[in-house]
Amino acid sequence: MKKSKEFLKSDWESIVNTDRSKGVPKPPVEKPYDKNKKIIPLPKIDEFKEITKTNLFDLILNRRSRRKYTNKPLSLKELSFLLWATQGVKKYVKDKEVVFRTVPSAGACHPFETYLIVFNVDGLEKGIYRYLSIEHKLILIKEGDFSKQTIEATLGQQFVGHSAVVFIWAAIPYRTEWKYTHESYKAIALDAGHICQNLYLASEALNCGTCAVAAYDQEKMDLLIGLDGQEEFVVYLAPVGKIQTPGNSF
Ligand SMILES: Cc1cc2nc3c(=O)[nH]c(=O)nc-3n(C[C@H](O)[C@H](O)[C@H](O)COP(=O)(O)O)c2cc1C
Repeated sequence: MKKSKEFLKSDWESIVNTDRSKGVPKPPVEKPYDKNKKIIPLPKIDEFKEITKTNLFDLILNRRSRRKYTNKPLSLKELSFLLWATQGVKKYVKDKEVVFRTVPSAGACHPFETYLIVFNVDGLEKGIYRYLSIEHKLILIKEGDFSKQTIEATLGQQFVGHSAVVFIWAAIPYRTEWKYTHESYKAIALDAGHICQNLYLASEALNCGTCAVAAYDQEKMDLLIGLDGQEEFVVYLAPVGKIQTPGNSF
């Protein structure tokens, strides 16, 4: 497929005739879900302070991409903190369908849904889940051990399949296109970087490690998560696991 560096440049002035300006309703900030499926409530955010004691200087200093994880499981509270740090909702203005999160997003469009491939989290069956960020809950998509498929879909990157949980960020581009048309794609890629950086820092605070992953098979990854690959598709992912020695484990 031909890809052009031109998309990295700004062409902001040429945004005209947006769906927003035509009065097309704003797309929902969260994908609808089947309320009959298994929903798992997550520990509340006021419980996080006790598990995150490191100061910001140390977190930034020690941050690195970590690809070796121990067999120790993540607790549900730790997972809950990581979800909140990456896509947590601080304010939801329901009548305007606007959401403010712990990360910034161009035009507050927030085009991402978060999926998890869970391997080793206390209290969760192995399987694929989606984060319901407004409710701060998880919904089970499918149960099973998807380690082999995860490694295959990340082009043989073994460490991804040997983590405790893989964070997968899938974009629904229309949420940004509604406002910014052709300028959306750069903005979506930039948004993804903010999310993953919060995962790096939040993981460090828990004595966990993570590593950004952009090298994956698009079709296999979309298929594994159950996405159509057109209106919603995977853009970025990152495995997380407990590490041996703080600041020393690559
Ligand atoms: C956009 C992006 C994509 C990346 N993709 C991968 C990847 O697919 N596999 C991998 O092992 N590391 C990946 N990395 C991690 C980089 O290799 C890592 O950040 C770099 O080597 C610098 O190391 P540090 O993060 O420890 O400072 C990626 C990082 C970024 C920011």
